Amino acid sequence: MSILITGGAGYIGSHTDLCLLNEGYDIVVVDNYDNSSPEALRRVMELTGKTFPYYEADACDEEKLAEIMKKHGVDSVIHFAGLKAVGESVRIPLRYYENNLLSTIRLLKAMETVGVKKMIFSSSATVYSADNQVPLTETGKLGCTNPYGWTKYMNEQILRDAAVADKELTVVLLRYFNPVGAHESGRIGEDPSGIPNNLMPYISQTAVGRRDHLTVYGNDYNTHDGTGVRDYIHVMDLARGHVAAVRYADTFKGSDAINLGTGVGYSVLDMVHAFEEANHIKVPYVIGARRPGDIDTVYSNPAKAKEKLGWQAEKTLVDMCRDQWNWQSHNPNGYAK
Ligand code: NAD
Ligand code: WQD
Repeated sequence: MSILITGGAGYIGSHTDLCLLNEGYDIVVVDNYDNSSPEALRRVMELTGKTFPYYEADACDEEKLAEIMKKHGVDSVIHFAGLKAVGESVRIPLRYYENNLLSTIRLLKAMETVGVKKMIFSSSATVYSADNQVPLTETGKLGCTNPYGWTKYMNEQILRDAAVADKELTVVLLRYFNPVGAHESGRIGEDPSGIPNNLMPYISQTAVGRRDHLTVYGNDYNTHDGTGVRDYIHVMDLARGHVAAVRYADTFKGSDAINLGTGVGYSVLDMVHAFEEANHIKVPYVIGARRPGDIDTVYSNPAKAKEKLGWQAEKTLVDMCRDQWNWQSHNPNGYAK
């Protein structure tokens, strides 16, 4: 039995591949390398000492997905494949709706064809409406502010509906908070194309000299130092959460949404200072205007993950900062030679 990993060459996918292989699972990866490189997969093999099949294919290609699942005896799927840049999704919404919704629909149809009944889906804290109280619990009100977020919201609905219609189907909707850091080896990590949208890669690319300075988006929020507060989670903790979700999917039928976060919020300046202290390096920054769409504070209530998955985040803020820098400093240009 094997697990199909769509988007398995990406940031979270590659770390999850590694955790699954180390736990003894067989995997098969499908990625179109739209935002990744097969080099990440080669490094996962190097780190684990294991090989696995991988295909350059589109997760919207229903026939190909069915063929791969059949050939490799797949019995569950982790669906990471998707486009994730919030700003880009506002500029080219149809590309986001097409890629992120069609991939899920075609994957579900391919699973139906070959009789695969378990799916773990990459959802996001972005599905929570901005008017919830923190910490965010899974029963919080849903609602989004950008096309990327709506694709996650709609995908959740599609998957819930599919699980109502097919009583044999199990769907775990994992709502990630802010993934950061890298595997402790520094061999795999996040390699955003172009200018990073997210804080942590921007900090580490500034530290390594690829960016002149970080712009802190606003210091007049209602937080302890005026900068935005988020729930940063180490990508290896997140990857372990997927292993726990694969096991959980064996225990029930239907759908369930679960937060993967630490339950602790840090501000932008907390992150900058922690990165500087952990790595003895300066991160030049300026205070700029607020980024449209951002809110004061987002962090999770991680209690359900502990109860249902038997999982909780273990890595510290220092681990996140050290591992982010270990990856960035050894791979200043990511996977590019
Ligand atoms: P990533 O871009 O590194 O990984 C996504 C992978 O999917 C990439 O390798 C990309 O090439 C691939 N892909 C995209 N469309 C595809 C398609 N049609 N067919 C095949 N492959 C395709 O992103 P990530 O940070 O690893 O995120 C993984 C998932 O988690 C995404 O669905 C993302 O929306 C979600 N997520 C990410 C974050 C985050 O901050 N990183 C937070 C919440 C949710
Ligand atoms: C974090 C904080 C910024 C960059 C996004 C998506 C969300 C999810 C995770 C996928 C905020 C501040 C950032 C910079 C800054 N992705 N910041 N200067 O906005 O919490 O969430 O990624 O599902 O959907 O919206 O993460 O890393 O962009 O920002 O000051 O150059 O850092 O204002 O307070 P965010 P982020």
